[in-house]
Amino acid sequence: MSPAFYDASCPELQSVVRRGMAQAVQKEARMGASILRLFFHDCFVNGCDASVLLDDTANFTGEKNAGPNANSLRGYEVIDAIKAQVEASCKATVSCADIVALAARDAVSLVGTRFSLSLFLASWPVALLTVAACVQLGGPSWTVQLGRRDGLSASQNAANANLPPPDARLPDLLARFSDKGLDARALTALSGAHTVGWARCTTFRTHIYNDTGNEAVDAAFATQIRAKACPSAGGDGNLAPLELRAPAAFDNGYFQDLVARRVLLRSDQELYGSGVGNGSTDALVRAYAANATLFAVDFAAAMVRMGNLALTGKNGEVRLNCRRVN
Ligand code: HEM
Repeated sequence: MSPAFYDASCPELQSVVRRGMAQAVQKEARMGASILRLFFHDCFVNGCDASVLLDDTANFTGEKNAGPNANSLRGYEVIDAIKAQVEASCKATVSCADIVALAARDAVSLVGTRFSLSLFLASWPVALLTVAACVQLGGPSWTVQLGRRDGLSASQNAANANLPPPDARLPDLLARFSDKGLDARALTALSGAHTVGWARCTTFRTHIYNDTGNEAVDAAFATQIRAKACPSAGGDGNLAPLELRAPAAFDNGYFQDLVARRVLLRSDQELYGSGVGNGSTDALVRAYAANATLFAVDFAAAMVRMGNLALTGKNGEVRLNCRRVN
């Protein structure tokens, strides 16, 4: 793979994807977070081969209805729209897997732009301040390696087996990431993606009501979330921001929340103070909580590593429609 893979065959690729993502985030601010998660769920099942985008067929049951994805994973239509734009410029050239990888990179740097634009429109005299806010809200960027091929199949079972559940404990998380060649540092940095986006009550109810001891939640936080977003019964689909401190910014507030035990998912809290894993992730969480730049650098590096779990060469194909094999 190489960042220059499409330089000759599709020189406008990166600007087409960027424009598509900017439009999608403009329409719905949450979409940046949703596309970032889509990339993670693609890469963790058969590698980053766009298998997550395949609709079910007579030959296989795909990943879209696997437990972690059903009624949860979002953004398929955004990738469809970008793919259509890319096909219009460069026919049968760019894989869906590469489009998702580029879209996820752009998603992170675009976080908060809609928020900033509305601030700008509401108060043009403080435009300079707003531009500064915009710079701070977006996350890091990185050079995307390209040349991924699209998979020929998808597997619901593989998605259920590979994607970590929200009640996972640290040894399980470490093992699942290690299976993909990703160490504790990559696990901790990548989990920082939960600085943006939303979760449904059903995914965090057990944590905020029942977890005790090393997994306990700050009492005031639990009271607030229970009342606002997650009753003990019902309201399964109610949404809460994964990071309450500054949900519209891609920052290191998530790690400060871990230290304060103010996060929604048990799998997140496991990274700090769980008492297992020799404290390897505790030290990283403290380091990221104290140093936003260190988090940004490590997050970008870990996204590149995760993105390298790819099909290349003559394997797979370049799909014409991301939802089905050619
Ligand atoms: C470490 C194990 C992880 C677990 C157990 C986990 C679990 C979850 C769960 C349960 C949700 C909420 C889903 C819902 O309510 O429908 C979520 C949302 C999200 N996850 Fe993760 N996740 C993990 C790692 C990651 C990684 C590595 C990334 C990206 C690099 C990521 C990005 C996101 C984003 C951005 C959202 C919000 C999506 C939206 O608002 O549409 N997660 N995750």
